[in-house]
Amino acid sequence: MDVNFYTPLQASQQYSASFEAYKANSEENQNISRWISEQFDDISRSLCKQFEGVSTLSILGIGSGDGTFEVEIVIQLLKTFPSVACTVVEPSGERIESYKQLVEKRKSALHGATFEWRAESLDEFYEVNRVNKRQFHFLSLIHSCYFMKHQELENHLRQITGFLYAGGQALIMHDAETTLMIQFQKRFTSNLHPLRPTIHGGHIKDALKNLQIEYEASIIPILCDATKCSDEDSVEGNLLLDFLFAVEGCRANGKSEILKMIFEFMNNSDVSFNENGKLYVRMPTQVIVISVT
Ligand SMILES: C[S@@+](CC[C@H](N)C(=O)[O-])C[C@H]1O[C@@H](n2cnc3c(N)ncnc32)[C@H](O)[C@@H]1O
Repeated sequence: MDVNFYTPLQASQQYSASFEAYKANSEENQNISRWISEQFDDISRSLCKQFEGVSTLSILGIGSGDGTFEVEIVIQLLKTFPSVACTVVEPSGERIESYKQLVEKRKSALHGATFEWRAESLDEFYEVNRVNKRQFHFLSLIHSCYFMKHQELENHLRQITGFLYAGGQALIMHDAETTLMIQFQKRFTSNLHPLRPTIHGGHIKDALKNLQIEYEASIIPILCDATKCSDEDSVEGNLLLDFLFAVEGCRANGKSEILKMIFEFMNNSDVSFNENGKLYVRMPTQVIVISVT
């Protein structure tokens, strides 16, 4: 049987469960949250300089998921701006519900913030905004560019930056070129049809250069403990394997020769190392901050 593929757009139960398995075994939440609490000040300062006197900062989240990172961003912005109006574009109703619960839980820290949740895809939001022509001071796409096809990337980035007022900023976080999955695809793509090529941070930077849009780039190192992936009876290990290789039912449905390559690669490559009996894989995040002039 051929390997099946999922897309984040479908936001299937399986996808959510895989993503949860990844979060539970990686440093992603911790390291991205640390980046927001330590580095976001630069963005706040720049927005404050550009939009002096603006009392309500309007911001847009695209593919915000359960709001884990966006809520932290809003809290940072509230240190500088008395009020923040956050529009959330997230197609999964289930995640919007979790986002609402998080806002309720953090309400004392979110005093001054309002949220408008839109259960829409980015394409649907483009359509609505063609008429409304709303603009924002800041927007974020945190690990949500997965649904974008490589050939559509420039168009998406042109449209997304078009949502910003002059002087506005966009924060994009996405898989760096050096993550396990991207390196695996680079090495084996020809053998692995139909593994679909995935975009990475390098593609986003190239697209921005072509569009002559200014940006600053940095990397957040993130390790994932992939030890459980070797245990074929571990439900969490199998979900994690699916997430790491972007394949639904990787072990159950995958061809044995692909599985063999996957495990050989995970155990013997620059993107992984063993320590104290555990297997760690590298999943760095590319950070891109765009300033619209
Ligand atoms: C990997 S999750 C990231 C969620 C969140 N930003 C985070 O970092 O925890 C990707 C998110 O993109 C959303 N998504 C998928 N397709 C989308 C689309 N066409 N437009 C906007 N968001 C989309 C998914 O529902 C999912 O919540």
